[in-house]
Amino acid sequence: VIRSVVVGTGSALPARLVTNDELAKTVDTSDEWIVQRTGIRQRHLADASETTSTLGIKAAAAALEDAGLGPDDIDLVICATSTPDHTFPSVATQIQAGLGIRAGFAFDIQAVCAGFVYGVATADKFLTTGSVRRALVVGAETFSRILDWKDRTTCVLFGDGAGAIVLEAQAGEGTSEDRGVLTSHLRSDGKHRDKLYVDGGPGSTGTTGHLRMEGKDVFRFAVGSVTDVIADAFAATGTSADDLTWFVPHQANRRIIEASADKLGIDRSKVVLTVDRHGNTSAASIPLALDTARKDGRIKRRDLVMIEAIGGGFTWGAALIRW
Ligand code: ACO
Repeated sequence: VIRSVVVGTGSALPARLVTNDELAKTVDTSDEWIVQRTGIRQRHLADASETTSTLGIKAAAAALEDAGLGPDDIDLVICATSTPDHTFPSVATQIQAGLGIRAGFAFDIQAVCAGFVYGVATADKFLTTGSVRRALVVGAETFSRILDWKDRTTCVLFGDGAGAIVLEAQAGEGTSEDRGVLTSHLRSDGKHRDKLYVDGGPGSTGTTGHLRMEGKDVFRFAVGSVTDVIADAFAATGTSADDLTWFVPHQANRRIIEASADKLGIDRSKVVLTVDRHGNTSAASIPLALDTARKDGRIKRRDLVMIEAIGGGFTWGAALIRW
């Protein structure tokens, strides 16, 4: 059996770091409110020269270097994003060009904050069926460009950034080295559109629009729904919360993450938390957290890692990875 094995990670953050106190100078909020409700202490925000593509290229280049690979080794690029530089072409093709990748194909996935999990699940299908050998899966976002900076209920929550992993098709099950994506489970339910959406686009206002959110409803759904995809992942692999080495959820806010972990019986010491430093970077948050936890020595070879996310739509999903 072929498995999709993680052979490299990388990430990129805009240079500009913005603290809660700095935000409090322009909107009616406070460090205390933001930290208590969300766990967020700071976020990075793109300047005029930084776009989703430039951040994605940097993160992807770092992941390639980490894997010890070059552009000719990649035959699939998937970028999860809801904030592309342009309506088209895709960010993934810009990453392909930016890295000098000439073979194969590239496309974006739009599943908002669940986009990276969707990307991993999709790449895994191409790799395990033998259509490609190595895939770059990138999550890259500049949510600062779709925020209403006068709306304190949303603008304090998000940040910009990108993360990437390289997946390689390797002989898995049945060998002594059975590593890689063991299972992935995706869900969506479009009837929740109005809970979290952007009020613009080519087919509505013709402008980019701004993010709108019913915070309490999103919170309730997030904690209530993640359990099904994670239960599916455990059932498909005969594992349980006790077997996990790390839980790396989408970094929306600390209270959602801790309530979800508690509900699932996952010890809080196994939870990787980066929302304090990065804010909610949507599809970029999981690969940013994976890269952080790998480079600081937490995630090691053969660790069992659960990734999980929920985003606008709603969309949600989970994947279990033997590192
Ligand atoms: N600073 C100060 N006060 C604020 C702020 C702010 N930034 N934002 C809201 N308030 C005020 C409100 O106006 C309200 O005041 P009122 O009582 O006088 O009306 C009070 O704080 C409480 O507001 P609530 O919305 O009830 O606060 P709540 O405890 O629900 O927290 C929050 C709000 C943090 C947004 C919470 O609902 C939440 O975490 N929701 C999930 C949101 C999320 O993470 N979304 C993204 C997930 S999916 C994705 O990533 C795309």
